[in-house]
Amino acid sequence: MSIKKGLFITAVLIAAAFILTACAGPAGAVGPAGPAGPVGPTGPVGAAGTNPSAADLTCTQCHNDTTLITGPETSYSTSVHATGIAFGIAASRSTCTGCHTGVGFSERIAAGQTNPDLWTTTYANPTRIDCRACHQVHTTYTKDDFALETTAAVPLYAFTGVTFDGGMGNLCANCHQPRTVITAPAADGTINVSSTHWGPHHGPQASMMLGVGGAGTVTGTPSPHYANVPDTCVGCHMGGDSVNHTLVPSVTTTCVTCHPGATDYNMNGAQTALEAKIATLKADLTTAGLLDKDGNIVVGNYPEAKANALWNYILVAIEDKSNGVHNMPYAEALIDDSLAAFK
Ligand code: HEC
Ligand code: HEC
Ligand code: HEC
Ligand code: HEC
Ligand code: HEC
Ligand code: HEC
Repeated sequence: MSIKKGLFITAVLIAAAFILTACAGPAGAVGPAGPAGPVGPTGPVGAAGTNPSAADLTCTQCHNDTTLITGPETSYSTSVHATGIAFGIAASRSTCTGCHTGVGFSERIAAGQTNPDLWTTTYANPTRIDCRACHQVHTTYTKDDFALETTAAVPLYAFTGVTFDGGMGNLCANCHQPRTVITAPAADGTINVSSTHWGPHHGPQASMMLGVGGAGTVTGTPSPHYANVPDTCVGCHMGGDSVNHTLVPSVTTTCVTCHPGATDYNMNGAQTALEAKIATLKADLTTAGLLDKDGNIVVGNYPEAKANALWNYILVAIEDKSNGVHNMPYAEALIDDSLAAFK
């Protein structure tokens, strides 16, 4: 057989094999995997490492043998943030967690939600307004973590176009602001005092400092303390001692820097004078039937001026809780205007 012929037959056979394969039925199942190859040789021994010293760990910038953490913890543990009764009432309720829990506050701020009434998340195990509420603990794992959760200016959500901008005090203003303003009178000139919880809610301090949130015709102005005290709330409630987390203002380290020789909060007897006017207003409201003999709100429809007076009494005397310090000119003007309603 010639080579040519042989090649031809081979080519024909290969072509036939191809065609036959193509015509054959479906391909068979994949065969089993082959056995694993042998283990490779052991690599060379690496260079000896060094154990990190305590100083190399960023953790020890805070977790060390100092009072850096335990100092604030000790004073915080006696503060109302740590002990207050409102936590038990509000911590598990929708629309309350954004101000009444640490976890809700942190998440609300991270989400950029400035209206806590729209923060409806509830938590199985809510936390108090604790270190993690105000500080960014365990974010970078350096001492920078004690940076505050936020110091951005705060648009007060009960108002239109009112912004609190007081340095580190902005942290506080996120929660210590009113939830409502007084409603407009009805067609008959009365205002409905709708519940025994009527009023601006319990922490209207930021709006007091700005001179807004009262009822009636008084036009307030920002407190001298808003413009003059660095970091506003923080300046007075922690002033001069950032370890002290009781948040009780100190006369001797803070107030005296501007009120030389002061021995209490009652500068120029201004608190005493305000308290006397408040006592008269309370008596007037009781006589007129807006407060009962125990000082509780009596629900009803009242003439606008009297309802305004009740609102201002609640704001200044019950909820602001500074006996005028946050904004003495505004507190005085509101109480004076309210007293006039009973003349
Ligand atoms: C900015 C300071 C700071 C740094 C840095 C820091 N921690 Fe903490 N750590 C804290 C504070 C404050 C607490 C207490 C929190 C509290 O009581 O709510 C805490 C608590 C803890 C706890 C107790 C459980 C807990 O989470 O509350 C552990 C564990 C811990 N830290 C581990 C570490 C480790 C590990 C590192 C480093 C990788 C580190 N921390 C870095 C401040 C810090
Ligand atoms: C997450 C919201 C929130 C932030 C932020 C916050 N507070 Fe509070 N604060 C509260 C609540 C809620 C209470 C009442 C707690 C309770 O009774 O359980 C309170 C209570 C207080 C009290 C005690 C009031 C009383 O009736 O005796 C003071 C003072 C205070 N806060 C000041 C501050 C200052 C100053 C800052 C800023 C450094 C601040 N707070 C930040 C929500 C907040
Ligand atoms: C804008 C933030 C904010 C929201 C939202 C809020 N609170 Fe508060 N609440 C505060 C602050 C701040 C205080 C503490 C004020 C103080 O002691 O001066 C407080 C105090 C209280 C107190 C204690 C009153 C007292 O006399 O000691 C109760 C009770 C309370 N809140 C209930 C609620 C409930 C219930 C909700 C939800 C329906 C709610 N709060 C929503 C900020 C808020
Ligand atoms: C209500 C908010 C709030 C709470 C709760 C809070 N802090 Fe603070 N903390 C502040 C503010 C405001 C400052 C002042 C920051 C400044 O002066 O730079 C501060 C300062 C500090 C400082 C000093 C930081 C520095 O740079 O000098 C430390 C440390 C600290 N806090 C730790 C804690 C620890 C630990 C807890 C929990 C036990 C805690 N804080 C709870 C608001 C808070
Ligand atoms: C000029 C200093 C000063 C500034 C600024 C200031 N406070 Fe106060 N605040 C006081 C004093 C003083 C009292 C207590 C007055 C008294 O008991 O007669 C007080 C009372 C309070 C109370 C009630 C405490 C209690 O035990 O009943 C709260 C809550 C509060 N302030 C929060 C704030 C917040 C929030 C800000 C900022 C928006 C702020 N304060 C700004 C000085 C200040
Ligand atoms: C940065 C300066 C500064 C600091 C700090 C300061 N104040 Fe004032 N305070 C002022 C100014 C300014 C006025 C308005 C002018 C005046 O009455 O002296 C004022 C007014 C007052 C008034 C009203 C006085 C009146 O006659 O109507 C009271 C009350 C008051 N301050 C209390 C306090 C208390 C309490 C503290 C400490 C917690 C404090 N202040 C801290 C600057 C300050």
